[in-house]
Amino acid sequence: MTNCSDEDSDSDVREPIETQLTYQPLVSLKELASFPVGMIVSAQKLATNTQFKAYLNNDFNSVTAENDMKMRSIFIGPNNYDFSKGDAIISYAKQNGFRVFGHALIWHSSIPDWLVNFTGTDMAFEELIETYIKETVAHFSQEKIILNGQEISVVAGWDVVNEAFTDAAQNAVFRMRLGDDYVAKCFHWAREADPHVKLFYNDYNLESQSSKMVEVIGMLDDFTTRNIPIDGIGMQMHIDYISPSIQTIQSNLNALLQKDVLIHFSELDMTVNKTGLLSELTFLRAKSQEDKYRAVAELYSEIPENKRFGITLWGMRDVESWLLNFHGNINEYPLLFDASYNFKLAHRGFSEGLN
Ligand code: G3I
Repeated sequence: MTNCSDEDSDSDVREPIETQLTYQPLVSLKELASFPVGMIVSAQKLATNTQFKAYLNNDFNSVTAENDMKMRSIFIGPNNYDFSKGDAIISYAKQNGFRVFGHALIWHSSIPDWLVNFTGTDMAFEELIETYIKETVAHFSQEKIILNGQEISVVAGWDVVNEAFTDAAQNAVFRMRLGDDYVAKCFHWAREADPHVKLFYNDYNLESQSSKMVEVIGMLDDFTTRNIPIDGIGMQMHIDYISPSIQTIQSNLNALLQKDVLIHFSELDMTVNKTGLLSELTFLRAKSQEDKYRAVAELYSEIPENKRFGITLWGMRDVESWLLNFHGNINEYPLLFDASYNFKLAHRGFSEGLN
């Protein structure tokens, strides 16, 4: 019979009650992951922010320009391009062993004012856009690295078109002036500029709206039928700690897994205070966020290896997230690092899910 006193003494040794919102990882995200782990960057941050670069180089091996490689940043006038910010990002990436993902050639929310107001003919407009896509893809395909004895471009892929399945896109100049088939035209032009770069279609709520995922899959089937080049789909993954549920994400991901495309969780972040009821990140909410980030990383790690293009986090520190401005709420904590670059429990959950 077990000595009761032993049992009593055992029960007196309690696990310390966890209350910390942060932790100290032992292994980096990129070492744990079986796919590239990305972070958004800007030329300005890479030029000036030593602390940001330290955390970037430690955990990540892929970068996406948050804004510097969008049309508003590059297309400064008819046949006039400013590639300088993209070049700076690619130069940093090459020197520090990062993959670059190009975002985004065509997006109705990043059209330069002069192009919106372009008064030339639709044919002249089409000529401008075709040339823009070809010049931009060709320009950024020039920087090469040697990987496994093969020379490849630092820029591994592009969001050729972003968020076309929205009313705003339907009413924007691209569809209005290039026609209903403008998405296909853009993919053809991008492929003509670079035979190897991976061409993605990127959109939000694919993880939560099955109807929207059905539309994207319909486009994939149509592209296959018409031999229109496309290599992957970006599921942006701007999610909340409650919805969509992991089951819903899994269900929509399963639909896409039936197709022969790469899958990129391209803009992952996770709101935890959309109601605005929290004035700080509570421990309980931090634990819920940790669990959801773990589940997302696990779910992605389980898809077939040949379809894992990577997961890109849409921001480093909570305070830098676009979501604070978008929801008009400074008390939002959607990312893996707090304002002081401490590793949040969300980072631990994500790490554990990768492993
Ligand atoms: O650079 C100008 C600056 O000169 C000016 O003074 C300032 C005030 O208007 O604006 C600055 O540009 C801002 C830009 O971010 C750079 O900070 C734009 O106004 C602002 O609209 C832009 O927001 C970006 C947004 O895309 C629109 O392009 C966010 O940072 C970026 O996180 C967000 O990311 C998008 C993805 O590209 C596509 N998926 C959705 C995601 C969230 O909207």
